[in-house]
Amino acid sequence: MNMNKTSLKLRDSALAVAVLAASAVLSAQSFHSAPADAAAQENKYMSAADIEAGGKVYQARCAACHGPTAKGQANIPALATGATQAAKPGEVFWYITKGDLNNGMPSWAMLPETDRWQVVSYLKSLGGGGAAATKAAAGAEVKPAPSTTKFEAPDPAPPFTDFRFEKPGLSRKITVADLPKPYATQSAANSPKVVTKPDGVWPKVPEGFKVELYSKDVDGPRMLRTAPNGDIVVAESVKGQVTILHGMTADGKAEKASVYATGLNRPYGIAFYPEGPNPKWLYIGDTDAVVRFPYSNGDLTATGKPEHIADLPHGSSGHWTRDIRFTPDGKKMLVSVGSGSNVDDPDTTPGEKDRADVLEFNPDGSGMSVYAYGIRNCAGEAIHPKTGELWCSVNERDALGDNLVPDYITHVKPGGFYGWPWWYMGANQDPRHAGKHPELKTKAIVPDVLLNPHNASLGIMFYEGNQFPAEYKGDLFAAEHGSWNRSDRVGYELIRVPMTPAGRAKGEYEDFMTGFVLPSGEAWGRPVAVTAASDGSLLVSDDAYDAIWRISYVGAGKSAGK
Ligand code: HEC
Repeated sequence: MNMNKTSLKLRDSALAVAVLAASAVLSAQSFHSAPADAAAQENKYMSAADIEAGGKVYQARCAACHGPTAKGQANIPALATGATQAAKPGEVFWYITKGDLNNGMPSWAMLPETDRWQVVSYLKSLGGGGAAATKAAAGAEVKPAPSTTKFEAPDPAPPFTDFRFEKPGLSRKITVADLPKPYATQSAANSPKVVTKPDGVWPKVPEGFKVELYSKDVDGPRMLRTAPNGDIVVAESVKGQVTILHGMTADGKAEKASVYATGLNRPYGIAFYPEGPNPKWLYIGDTDAVVRFPYSNGDLTATGKPEHIADLPHGSSGHWTRDIRFTPDGKKMLVSVGSGSNVDDPDTTPGEKDRADVLEFNPDGSGMSVYAYGIRNCAGEAIHPKTGELWCSVNERDALGDNLVPDYITHVKPGGFYGWPWWYMGANQDPRHAGKHPELKTKAIVPDVLLNPHNASLGIMFYEGNQFPAEYKGDLFAAEHGSWNRSDRVGYELIRVPMTPAGRAKGEYEDFMTGFVLPSGEAWGRPVAVTAASDGSLLVSDDAYDAIWRISYVGAGKSAGK
């Protein structure tokens, strides 16, 4: 534990007490510090016709980010539940009008006032679980067909790329010297429209590899981990469910899907404890807590109730994924907790306390401390099999332009500071925090592997299997969920990060499985996490196509693809 962090946190907590006391009063009265006259405004557009019109505005302007049913996604808050439902209509109207660009929410002042009020009415109608909510949920089940219009934009300037130039086997290297200045381009609002998969379209992999569907019996699959007996544990976060996939048929499909547990709160992280052939517990990272189930090899349904192990910092908005890994000696549990916002300053925002960190606990949930900090959102953890070091896959911040800030994959130093929110990629100050924390400038660590900015890097793993050619052994694989804060789509792929035998990254990475974005720029698939099946094939979860893909090696000269 680094002294600086300790003193920083201590000072924070003294400050936090004062700020908390003030904000407890504030939050009872206002939404995003909306002034009293904003709250007092009356909504005159609340008829059924207004709600319907508001629904149209919502689908056209807001759904791309907040999701078709306003349940939120990634760091974008839900509007059908949470703070928006608790707020007064006038406060929501005021906030929508003003926006919060630093945190990625555009201003909607250019929409006619009537439209803004109607969208507020629509959002409020979702809260009660009324007809509009039911209709919105039903509509979201049906994905639209892809458009035939081709996406056109100038080619990206190397080393940056976009989906049109992602190709299995292509190697990429981005360095700090390549980065543009903040605001070199505008901040984009370009969430993907998820469409149906056209016939004949299939993920692409390098020569000699083959992609098959391992399972379609999953709903919004996120994290994946392999049990010692080869079962595959799948977190279906939005559903609040964990499913176990068992066995593999001769043609590479799961034999059986069994619901292991339900009623969880956005389960994401998955870990067995103790590690080794006979774990006793299955740990799950809910968004607000770590829970664990008693587990023996072969369990397909939970044999007991979840035991609450530790509370985790959380909020009504902000990053919600919590991954869990244990140190190789089994003595510590490392839990990643992303920031509550894009760039809010933890010094003055109590909700950011103990967020954008990797937190350390004893395996029984006691003894929390900060393991590493300034990691905006470590959405995937892995322990290197030889060095025993923790590695993180990190989503960096938005709203500074297309080519800032790179997402990254790095080994994590105990006590290390990774920059957020004051610095990025080493000694580069975030312009939104100009002049703050000069003492941290030289402390901010430059990560090992810089990825394309806005890739949305999620689950990672080290490949220890024997099925792939020998040069893949020990390499890291990472699932890139894909961009929204970039004018041309990037990510939406599985990447390979080559490693040295000593367990160091070389700074470069390769496209490995691509093809989830169509020529129209619309996406039909989004990789979330990756694990190895016991036969050494790779399994990749996809929460857009609702599937688990299986990548196997069939030998050089054999056809890749389906
Ligand atoms: C480009 C993506 C994007 C679009 C498009 C967008 N929003 Fe947002 N919105 C965000 C983000 C990101 C936040 C969270 C900001 C923060 O962290 O403070 C947010 C926050 C909000 C909040 C506050 C929620 C809370 O719990 O604090 C409301 C209300 C909201 N948006 C409404 C809308 C409406 C209505 C529209 C359409 C007219 C819209 N947004 C379009 C990204 C977007």
